Amino acid sequence: MSPSKVSSILYSTVNQTVENFSELRVLDLGAGNGMMREELKKHGVARLIGVDIIPEAYEATLRDRPGLYDAYYIEDFCDIDTEIKEEIQQWHLDCMVTVAALGFGDIPAKAFIEAFNIIKSEGWIAFNIKETFLDTSDDSGFSRMIRELIFSEYLDIYHIERYRHRNSIEGEPLFYFAIAGRKNADVPSEFLKSKNLL
Ligand SMILES: C[S@@+](CC[C@H](N)C(=O)[O-])C[C@H]1O[C@@H](n2cnc3c(N)ncnc32)[C@H](O)[C@@H]1O
Repeated sequence: MSPSKVSSILYSTVNQTVENFSELRVLDLGAGNGMMREELKKHGVARLIGVDIIPEAYEATLRDRPGLYDAYYIEDFCDIDTEIKEEIQQWHLDCMVTVAALGFGDIPAKAFIEAFNIIKSEGWIAFNIKETFLDTSDDSGFSRMIRELIFSEYLDIYHIERYRHRNSIEGEPLFYFAIAGRKNADVPSEFLKSKNLL
């Protein structure tokens, strides 16, 4: 399952350093009904903030997994309200996770960059993405953005793993990559513009 895969590579990544996983202050972008929280809870984190664009996601969290998030914001991360952004910054987050939300026409690249930049520099990033993202024939904005980011100074990759995400309706295995790394600095808009990613 993707939440457990992404959570476990994040765990092994942070354990390569002197930092403690249990002290992470995590933003869960596109949190949905909170499956990622279940996984992070196994190791324990200091703070967990959920964000999702649809109110039904939050309602599902309250119904299925109440009390798991320290805060949960219903917000479009492509067009985040200034006051909410300031409030989220007050949580002093140092980790961003996003699971089963990228490259599905789900979370746009702009929302990913907003979340990347909202956590502190020298923080942690973990996500999954469909396997074609490394293939240059995949010319979607999201895949291009992730490729540029991986080779940029803004992100250092610590762990990348291909795994079976699930089976297709035809019963064929669908492979994804789980990726974890270190954020070094905010991604400036000039970088995105220079790569035609805005
Ligand atoms: C496929 S679900 C994944 C849910 C959860 N992470 C999981 O693993 O079960 C993707 C989620 O991203 C949310 N989403 C899409 N665009 C968004 C945006 N611009 N800002 C915040 N959340 C967004 C959707 O509402 C949806 O709940």
